[in-house]
Amino acid sequence: LSQILFKNPNEPPMVFHWFPFIGSTFGDTFTFILLGKKTTVAVGPAGNDFILNGKLKDVNAEEIYTVLTTPVFGKDVVYDCPNAKLMEQKKFMKIALTTEAFRSYVPIISGEVQSYFKKNADFKPKTGIIDIPKKMAEITIFTASHALQGSAVRSRFDETLAALYHDLDMGFTPINFMLHWAPLPWNRKRDYAQRTVASIYMDIIKDRRANGDDHEEHDMMKHLMNSTYKNGTPVPDHEVAHMMIALLMAGQHSSSSTSSWIMLRLAQNPEIMEELLQEQIRVLGADLPPLQYEDLAKLPLNQAIIKETLRIHAPIHSIMRAVKQPMPVPGTKYVIPPSHVLLAAPGVSASDPQYFPSPDAWDPHRWEADSPNAPSIVRNGAVEEEEKIDYGYGLVSKGAGSPYLPFGAGRHRCIGEQFANVQLQTIVAETVRAFKFSNVDGSRNLIGTDYASLFSRPLEPAKIRYERRD
Ligand code: HEM
Repeated sequence: LSQILFKNPNEPPMVFHWFPFIGSTFGDTFTFILLGKKTTVAVGPAGNDFILNGKLKDVNAEEIYTVLTTPVFGKDVVYDCPNAKLMEQKKFMKIALTTEAFRSYVPIISGEVQSYFKKNADFKPKTGIIDIPKKMAEITIFTASHALQGSAVRSRFDETLAALYHDLDMGFTPINFMLHWAPLPWNRKRDYAQRTVASIYMDIIKDRRANGDDHEEHDMMKHLMNSTYKNGTPVPDHEVAHMMIALLMAGQHSSSSTSSWIMLRLAQNPEIMEELLQEQIRVLGADLPPLQYEDLAKLPLNQAIIKETLRIHAPIHSIMRAVKQPMPVPGTKYVIPPSHVLLAAPGVSASDPQYFPSPDAWDPHRWEADSPNAPSIVRNGAVEEEEKIDYGYGLVSKGAGSPYLPFGAGRHRCIGEQFANVQLQTIVAETVRAFKFSNVDGSRNLIGTDYASLFSRPLEPAKIRYERRD
């Protein structure tokens, strides 16, 4: 209370909780207490730009995230190194994701999804009820590990690696923001899992180096093994291993939450699932040949499903930065002091009727220019020429002014966007070939969102009914 009564008039207004108040009377900049820290939220396109394109001297990500990520990923990568080194690491990752690589990933992902549906006991009956997030978590990790880390890693997943990743995951919850150091049972398991996964990767790296490696594979591990920092140092094996863990964890939470939401939305809207199948039949032919990378661009509704689901259900709901020096908020009287943490929430503008008519409607057709619900960024002609900037890992869109930023913006922007799109589009295309989905009670209801972790996801259990198409 004293913080509210005696607050500095040049600091943004205090609120107790911010989720229920989005878009209401508090304006676009306000402060609340999160885990004992004064946390200032700045929303809307201007707020996103202020935080995500903030200068390195003003805002800092690693100070916030390192306590959580370093015990899980390992040393010397991502937030356990200076930002300039992260920018080089992101460059290596981005360069590995070539069109040639994506071309090789689509059959790998298709094959994994088909074999999962064939072998998983819960999908054996002609019709049944499944808890979809559990299934999508497995499909995501099998497809991502096979495509990004190669067949040698994928073959270790069925036995040891899946359980170890589960233990690593336990170290990735908000409680670890405060108790990351404590000798708690799940932290001990996390540390053992980190060491073990890293040493499995390092053995595979050694083996691949010794055997001259395979020419067929375009995985990320192979690319990182052969990358060299600007100062001439080749990326050491332990860093390759730790980057592999970081990539899989980053992609796992976001892609598996997104694919679960997609399946729940399809169960809620079975007619859209039919439309998706008809789109494939129309474009690819009634015999539905094996999917190729080039096919994905020919399936606009299949693409729009991902865009629209990320608009409403972006898994990274809050992006935080430490404030390094007083930051005046443009156009206001406020100055954010270094004792505060800044929080961006791009999902707020993505559900603002100013930019997205009927924002609460999940309407994949809104991404067609002539739809009555078409967003301003689509209606005003093709998305305007976006301002690009190079933070050290190639040109990226600044995203300044865009109300739609599920992959972030600025120096910490996602490098996995294209991979996630290829992965999700292929999973959706394979799923609609195999099944019809509906809600268990035949209703049009939707399960609520679990915001308790850093990545939002459907509340569990989230069950749907499937029927096999034969
Ligand atoms: C960063 C979203 C999938 C790797 C980010 C950020 C967002 C995001 C919002 C910015 C975080 C920040 O500013 O602090 C998503 C979504 C995904 C997805 C919605 C899927 C639907 C992936 C995948 C990978 C990946 C599949 C790996 C292949 C990364 C990396 C960063 C990042 C390396 C950079 C972190 C940094 O520079 O601090 N992602 N991501 N992401 N993402 Fe993704």
